[in-house]
Amino acid sequence: MSALAIVRGALWVGDLSRYPRPVHDCDGYALFEVQGRLVPKLARSMRVSCSVVRARLQRGARAFTAWSTRDDEVAGWLWVSTGREWAPPIRRELHFAADECYGWDAGTLPDHRGHGLFTELLRYAGWRMAREGARLMWGGILDENLASQRANAAAGLRPIVHLSAIHDLEPTTLQAWPVEYADERLVVRALRVVHGEDQ
Ligand SMILES: CC(C)(COP(=O)(O)OP(=O)(O)OC[C@H]1O[C@@H](n2cnc3c(N)ncnc32)[C@H](O)[C@@H]1OP(=O)(O)O)[C@@H](O)C(=O)NCCC(=O)NCCS
Repeated sequence: MSALAIVRGALWVGDLSRYPRPVHDCDGYALFEVQGRLVPKLARSMRVSCSVVRARLQRGARAFTAWSTRDDEVAGWLWVSTGREWAPPIRRELHFAADECYGWDAGTLPDHRGHGLFTELLRYAGWRMAREGARLMWGGILDENLASQRANAAAGLRPIVHLSAIHDLEPTTLQAWPVEYADERLVVRALRVVHGEDQ
């Protein structure tokens, strides 16, 4: 008998009202939001085609990057959406309230890892989104992804609900339950993110 295909993770959140003004430059890296000119560079680092990046930007997703001034390349990136976004690991569309945003599909090129780039990108993107009215930034992290957990914790995010997605049967069965000591108001919001208004 084959093992069940279960994806385990958690939905994390950062309270953007507590975010300090971040640095824009750190040790050979500049942080900024990608506009049209940098699409090919971002696509190259992400190993996707330019059309994938352009389609995301056209539908309103935002891309924040850490640019390596030494190597002239996008060393790290973080996508941020509002409204709704598909979450592939749990095969579910997530729904965000008007004052929420969602960080997703982050990455740092292997040669640039461990320099705090993801942590700084989370802070920078969170600060930028806060200036535009967002109060909370959500993110999904797999339980096995210790590097992402450390970076998110360093950037001030914390887990609110555990997620467990069982993919063997269609449709996917998704379970969500509170993390111990999580703020109840954030748990309610997290369940709305996962299940929509009718949870
Ligand atoms: C996760 C990822 C984006 C982190 O990028 P980064 O720029 O290296 O992140 P940071 O340097 O800000 O922080 C990484 C932290 O994890 C730690 N870390 C790195 N590899 C680790 C590992 N294998 N196990 C545990 N901790 C690890 C680092 O030491 C650092 O913690 P510290 O600051 O307490 O020392 C990068 O590893 C990556 O691209 N992974 C593949 C894609 C991915 O997982 N994306 C995120 C999806 S949620």
